[in-house]
Amino acid sequence: MSTVVRLTGVTKEYAGGVRALDGVDLTIGRGELLAIAGPSGSGKSTLLHIVGTLDRPSAGTVEIAGHDVASLTDRRLSALRSQHIGFVFQAFHLVPGVSARDNVAEGLLYSGLPRARRRALAADALARVGLADRMEHRPHELSGGQKQRVAIARAVVGEPALLLADEPTGALDSASGEAVMELLHDLNREGATIAVITHDTEIAAGLPRQVRIRDGRVVADTARGKVAA
Ligand SMILES: Nc1ncnc2c1ncn2[C@@H]1O[C@H](COP(=O)(O)OP(=O)(O)OP(=O)(O)O)[C@@H](O)[C@H]1O
Ligand SMILES: [Mg+2]
Repeated sequence: MSTVVRLTGVTKEYAGGVRALDGVDLTIGRGELLAIAGPSGSGKSTLLHIVGTLDRPSAGTVEIAGHDVASLTDRRLSALRSQHIGFVFQAFHLVPGVSARDNVAEGLLYSGLPRARRRALAADALARVGLADRMEHRPHELSGGQKQRVAIARAVVGEPALLLADEPTGALDSASGEAVMELLHDLNREGATIAVITHDTEIAAGLPRQVRIRDGRVVADTARGKVAA
C-alpha cells in the first residue's frame, strides 16, 4: 500500500506556549478511511491543518505523497496542496451568491483547465453527490446537508489523493449527517483516501480505522493496536 501521509514526531507549539501537538507519528496509506477523534482542544484541527499543509509543524517531519513539506517553499507547497488535497469544513465555506456548480468549479481554479471544462467536471461531481437537480441553486437555496454535499463535490472534483474533513457532520441533523457519511464511504470505495475529524463516537466507530488524540498525543490507533493509558 503506498503512503499518502507520513508524520514523524510532529510537534506544534502556538505563540503563547500552547503545545497543541506533542510528538505525533501517523501514517495514512492510499485508500484508507479513518476517523480522528478526541475531546475539544485535543489538537484535532491542528493536526488536520498540518496534514493539509495549511500550517507547518514546530518540530518533526511531514511527508505528503512522498514530498517532505519542509523542503518546499510556500509557493510549491500551495501547488502541492491544490493538486493533492481536498478540504471539507464543518461550516461548508461556500461562496455566497454563486451557484452550486460554480462553487464546485472553484475547486479546479488552479488546475489550468479551461472554464468550460471546469464547469463540465463540476456538473459530474454534483451528480456524484446526488445534486444533479440543484446545479444552479445558490448556497442560501440549499439545505445544510445539500451545502455539505456541494462542499464535498468541490473538495473531490480535482480527484485529490487525500480528502480531509473537519467535523463534516457537525452542523447537520442526524439524517443529513448520515447521508454525508454514506457519501464519504462511497467516495472511499471509489478509491479516495479520507480522514474525518469527529467528536461523534458513533461516527468514529463506523469507520474502518480510528485514531484517538488526547492532549496533542495519539493515545490509540486501531491500525497499530497501540493503546496508551
Ligand atoms: N492559533 C492558535 N493560537 C494559540 N493556540 C491555539 C491556536 N489554535 C488552537 N490553539 C490551542 O491548541 C489546542 C488544540 O486546538 P485544536 O483547535 O487543534 O483542538 P480541537 O481538537 O480541534 O478542538 P475542537 O474539538 O474544539 O475543535 C487548544 O488548546 C487550543 O486552544
Ligand atoms: Mg477542531
